[in-house]
Amino acid sequence: MVEVLGSGGMVAIPTETVYGLAVDALDASAVASVFAAKGRPATDPLIVHLGSGERIDTVVREWSDVAHQLADAFWPGPLTIVAPRHPSVLPALSAGRDTIAVRVPAHPVAEAVLAAFDGPLAAPSANRFGRVSPTEADHVMAELGGRIHMVLDAGPTPLGVESTVIDVTGARPMVLRPGGVTVEMLTPVVGEVDVPERLVVDTDEAAASPGQSIAHYSPSTPVVLVDAGPDVIEALTTAVQARGVRCVAMDLGGDAESTARRLYRDLRAVDSGDADIALAPVMDPRGLGRAVNDRLFRAARGRVVLDATPDTVKRLADIAAGDGR
Ligand code: TXA
Ligand code: MG
Repeated sequence: MVEVLGSGGMVAIPTETVYGLAVDALDASAVASVFAAKGRPATDPLIVHLGSGERIDTVVREWSDVAHQLADAFWPGPLTIVAPRHPSVLPALSAGRDTIAVRVPAHPVAEAVLAAFDGPLAAPSANRFGRVSPTEADHVMAELGGRIHMVLDAGPTPLGVESTVIDVTGARPMVLRPGGVTVEMLTPVVGEVDVPERLVVDTDEAAASPGQSIAHYSPSTPVVLVDAGPDVIEALTTAVQARGVRCVAMDLGGDAESTARRLYRDLRAVDSGDADIALAPVMDPRGLGRAVNDRLFRAARGRVVLDATPDTVKRLADIAAGDGR
């Protein structure tokens, strides 16, 4: 495995969040091959993974007090810190930006790989660009099998959603992607953080976090969020089915932790069934619910409905038929 990474190969590794596609972060052609394998635009920067925070000085130019506090509190763990980039870092890694995203993962296999490799690894989620992130080795094979050199299978990843991305270069820390470390966990450590209410932009233009494009985490089957109670979801499902459309309601019941853990598997399952359209509920936004809602909103490409009126039913039938949005 170390030989594969050392010679510029791509190894999919489990982390506590999702499977990542790891390459030597110091090898320009290996980094280029990750973008190619994923079909990821060169404008979308990668996260550098370190075995510990000890050598942070090799990747960042400046490590503020806030960054220190966050790393002390949450590393190893699902927090990615965006800080000023060290001049020696490959520009391609951060897509030419003057910041770099870093994290120290907390998963025994990821930790063992980083310790054995003894250097920084760039690792985006091991899925094709815009698709659902992999939480099982089989998902990696389905997305990238044949394009990468090795997959380390450690079973399902424990958290199920990606790390929280937090930018510490501004006056106040700003959450660019909600994830495993919740806002409720962040504020006792660093005080108020900025959390844009809807972390999605409906455009290709560069956003604060370039990965925040709306077409992320999407199954092929159209998904629509229903921001209303279970009775509305049931009424909608029945009414849409009555129009001859195969409509399924995703069951995301349980606490936010268990919903997060199986979210991506459930989204993949939507595609392996024969549904024309899937409806998903909006979760309680506290804790991991924020990250779940964010991923569902993207899976739905921003489509949200609020009621079960005939107009809404028609709109869903149109979406299922491939026209209308
Ligand atoms: O949990 C995770 O973070 C997983 C595991 C494998 O570590 N990795 C992951 O990587 O989700 P990726 O590449 O799929 O997502 C990285 C996110 C993207 O939204 C990207 O735009 C953002 O981090 N990002 C990376 N560098 C950035 C930077 N310099 N400034 C702002 N956002 C950045
Ligand atoms: Mg990703």
